[in-house]
Amino acid sequence: MGGSLDSKEFMDEVKYHSRQKHVFLKAYLDIWSEQVGRKKKNIPTLDIYDMFASYGRCKCSESGEEWDGSAILAARCLCKYSNGRRLWLNSFNEDSDEMAKQHRGLNMWLDALEIPPRVKINLDGKPIGDAIDNALKYVDPKYPSLWILDPWSPSQLPWEVVEKVARTEGVFYTKKGKVTRRPEMFINLMTSVLQRCSGMTDGQEKALDIALGMPTEEWRSRLDELREDGLNTREAIVEIYGSKLANIYGKPPIALTVPGTEGNLVYTIFLVTENEAGYYVMRIKKLPKYFEWHQHEWATKAKRLKHKRKGKRRAKKAGLTTSLDDY
Ligand SMILES: C[S@@+](CC[C@H](N)C(=O)[O-])C[C@H]1O[C@@H](n2cnc3c(N)ncnc32)[C@H](O)[C@@H]1O
Repeated sequence: MGGSLDSKEFMDEVKYHSRQKHVFLKAYLDIWSEQVGRKKKNIPTLDIYDMFASYGRCKCSESGEEWDGSAILAARCLCKYSNGRRLWLNSFNEDSDEMAKQHRGLNMWLDALEIPPRVKINLDGKPIGDAIDNALKYVDPKYPSLWILDPWSPSQLPWEVVEKVARTEGVFYTKKGKVTRRPEMFINLMTSVLQRCSGMTDGQEKALDIALGMPTEEWRSRLDELREDGLNTREAIVEIYGSKLANIYGKPPIALTVPGTEGNLVYTIFLVTENEAGYYVMRIKKLPKYFEWHQHEWATKAKRLKHKRKGKRRAKKAGLTTSLDDY
């Protein structure tokens, strides 16, 4: 694959907890490719916009595994979905060499997939504010579009960006009358960072102003109210964010908490859709399967990794191991 390119070099180095994000994303995309898109006729076109695309493949040194990242999962979905129309990838990095490498990686993995010509691919490289404005020019809101918003930190995904996508409403008429459609979104909200920043007063608390799209005093007083009702800070943040999405979509998003291998809670993934059937399939069919996988595969391996790390820490403390890092 990819001629002289060293394939491992063109992968995102990730922690084992990200495996959960990608398995959950695949479960969601499978609803489109395996259920909606299984029919050959009269299915709508489908566009996927992955706005934090990175390399498209991941490697995990903790577990030694490699797997598809969001961009390649999206590409596979559009290959399978018989009316897949556009794959929009935005891969940006402040370090221009790193960004060029991410783009080379993406092109290399996409080439290996043999994507059918009906799927147009756009590869962009802009900071999210400009990237969203550019991508939105190509959207026809009357047709389904899925948006993957998966930043590194909460301030990289300002609420105004999320709202811009959410408010891109399409209106059309069927025999039954007027129908409105909004983009579906897969959002990664870094709740652990927000939780930490919420108690700060040195400027770091501004991360919540940006991510939640409200002034400091407003989210502080809402956090206080919700904590008085018995929620912890993380739950209160999820509640504030989820209700902002529900106000636009008319129904609460599906929220999945993602733990790290040490048991700490790292982020919350929100799945936002107005579509009754999609919502139903995700809740009734896909989520139970996801939790089964989580219990039998992910949690078992995470436990082993935690155990191994503990052992290494103990051995190091006792002076039994040395590594190059010690010199
Ligand atoms: C968590 S990674 C994305 C992982 C990817 N979605 C996957 O599943 O394989 C976040 C990405 O956002 C990019 N990034 C950082 N700052 C950004 C910004 N302001 N706008 C857009 N992308 C940004 C980083 O280069 C990085 O590739």
